This record gives sequence, C-alpha cells and structure tokens, in this order.
Amino acid sequence: MKFSRALVVAGFYSLINLVAGQSSTQICDANGICFEGYQDPTLDTFVGIILPPLTTPPSTEYIVQLVAPISYGWTGASMGGQMADSLLFVFWPSGDDVVFSSRWTDGYVQPLLYAGPTVTMLSGSGSNGTHLIATFRCQNCTSWDGGSIDPSGSSQVLAYATSTDTPVDDPTNPASNFTEHNDFNFFGLVTANAISSDYQSILSKLSPPSSAPTSSAPSSSAPSSSPSHTSAPSSPSPSSTSPSHTTSASGAEQTKYGQW
Ligand code: HEM
Ligand SMILES: *[C@@H]1O[C@H](CO)[C@@H](O)[C@H](O)[C@H]1NC(C)=O
Ligand SMILES: *[C@@H]1O[C@H](CO)[C@@H](O)[C@H](O)[C@H]1NC(C)=O
Ligand SMILES: *[C@@H]1O[C@H](CO)[C@@H](O)[C@H](O)[C@H]1NC(C)=O
Repeated sequence: MKFSRALVVAGFYSLINLVAGQSSTQICDANGICFEGYQDPTLDTFVGIILPPLTTPPSTEYIVQLVAPISYGWTGASMGGQMADSLLFVFWPSGDDVVFSSRWTDGYVQPLLYAGPTVTMLSGSGSNGTHLIATFRCQNCTSWDGGSIDPSGSSQVLAYATSTDTPVDDPTNPASNFTEHNDFNFFGLVTANAISSDYQSILSKLSPPSSAPTSSAPSSSAPSSSPSHTSAPSSPSPSSTSPSHTTSASGAEQTKYGQW
C-alpha cells in the first residue's frame, strides 16, 4: 500500500486534533436549522447531526447535514469514527445535483452500497453554486454491522474523508466506485447537544410534500425492508423539473436528489 505524503500528514494531524479534543458545536445553516457538528476550517466541509429526544425504546433515526465544496470529487462521513465496519455516508456532485449513497466495508478498500439504512433526502439538498449540500433523514441508522451510536452516551467519535481532486468513476450512478480520499479527520460529537426537542418539527419543515412525484410513500411512514424514496421539494433552482428516476445497481435507486 502506497501512502502519499499528504495522507500521512493528514493522519498525523488527525490524531493530534482528536487528542486535543476537536469537538462539535451548534452550527445553523442558511435555513436556520441548527446542527450539532463540526466545520473543518481547512477542508471547508461540514458534518452535522440532529438526534431525536431520548425514548424507550430508543429511536434509531437522526437527521444529517453534509456540506463540501462542489469542486471536490467525493466527500463522506463515518458514523463509527473509522473507515472499517462503520456506517458511511458518501456524496458527490452530478451537474448541479447531489448523488448520495450509504456505504460499508470491512477493510480499507472500496466501500460498497449498504442496504440497511432508509434514507430520505430533505429539502435544501443540492448545490448552491459553491457548495454541495446533502441533508437527509436516516432511519435504522443507530446500529450497523460492526458498530453503533449511543444517543444517550456523552460523546461519539465521528470521522469524515474526502477526495478533493478526483471525481468518482460514474457521477450519475450512486453505486459508482471511486478512488481513495486524500484527506480525512475526526471530531467528537457531543451527543447530548445533538438531541433536539424540536426534532419532529424540524423534520416536518424539511420533509418533501406528500404530493412529490416520485414518492412511493409519505416520508413520515415507517421504514420497510426495501428502500423507500422521496424527492426533495426545494432546490436552488425551484423551476427545475421533477426528479429523474432510473434504477441502477441492486439496492440503489437513483433520483435527481440521490439514492435510496
Ligand atoms: C476506494 C475508497 C477508499 C479507499 C481505498 C480507502 C483507503 C483507506 C486507507 C488505506 C486508510 C488508512 C490510511 C492511513 O491510516 O493513513 C483509510 C483511512 C480512513 N478512511 Fe478510507 N478509503 C476509501 C474510502 C473511504 C470512505 C468512503 C470513507 C468515509 C466515508 C473513508 C474514511 C476513512 C477514515 C475516517 C479513515 C481514517 C480512520 C481509519 O483508519 O479508519 N474512507 N482509508
Ligand atoms: C436495518 O439495518 C440492518 C443493517 O444495518 C439490516 O440488516 C436490517 O435489515 C435493517 N432493518 C430494516 C427494518 O430495514
Ligand atoms: C453555500 O452554502 C455554504 C454552506 O452553507 C456556504 O458556506 C456558502 O457561502 C453558500 N454559497 C452561496 C453562494 O450562497
Ligand atoms: C465497484 O467495485 C467492485 C469491486 O470492488 C465491483 O464488484 C463493482 O461491480 C463495482 N461497481 C461498479 C458500479 O462498477
């Protein structure tokens, strides 16, 4: 395995940052939705989370916002704080659209599509001209093969990775393969601060209308074992036509706004 100098340096600083306690804060987006997350000042990327209130039994869902410069090849986040055996979220641009997929791998190799999570892209996902934004509801997402997050715990290490310079093989295909990141880093999610008593109203505010043309079910419906999908109602180009819709690799369904 060949390690680039940049990667080794990035890894070195990652450890220092983690030890130094690079930690989440409340950051609100352009729509006034506030996430507990981390804005990387160098990479200009953002990973933010909103957790629902604690219940018995615990909810398995949360809302995520990921932001990266539109020039990047791909960007991803790891809910397990490491690459292997973690629930990974990956997104990249395809024209002005965001293509999203859940991924998983048990090693340091190409992560492939992961079918467990039910992901609903939320309003505001897309490009604003400079950045790519993926805001989504993730159900069945607090545990996965090899790990979990504990919403009642004090903190959780999350990670993110990006290829700033290399586009994915086939941007329109959510199952596309891609090459290794040239940077990654970590932060501590202060779990208690990510819990919002406004979770349901935030979700309603961001959820697609039930009349959305590609919906097979209201976004508020319970997840089923087969991926559900809905379209995001708003994008920076409100005049855009309804989402395009083609199937691809098994487990993936492509619409204008991503993969479900
Ligand atoms: C073809 C795709 C990928 C390849 C070949 C790859 C390969 C690797 C390798 C070799 C390392 C060890 C580097 C080091 O320790 O300096 C690593 C670390 C890491 N990767 Fe990836 N990676 C890929 C995709 C991803 C994706 C999609 C994510 C997140 C969404 C990710 C997240 C991470 C993180 C957080 C680390 C550092 C923590 C750890 O060692 O687990 N990687 N990757
Ligand atoms: C939840 O995700 C796991 C994998 O993490 C999967 O095995 C399981 O079938 C999923 N459950 C539902 C109801 O989709
Ligand atoms: C696009 O969104 C990002 C992240 O919220 C923000 O930093 C950037 O200024 C926005 N760009 C424009 C042109 O509004
Ligand atoms: C991605 O690579 C895997 C092998 O790692 C391969 O099985 C799969 O078919 C590739 N996917 C696409 C969409 O080319």
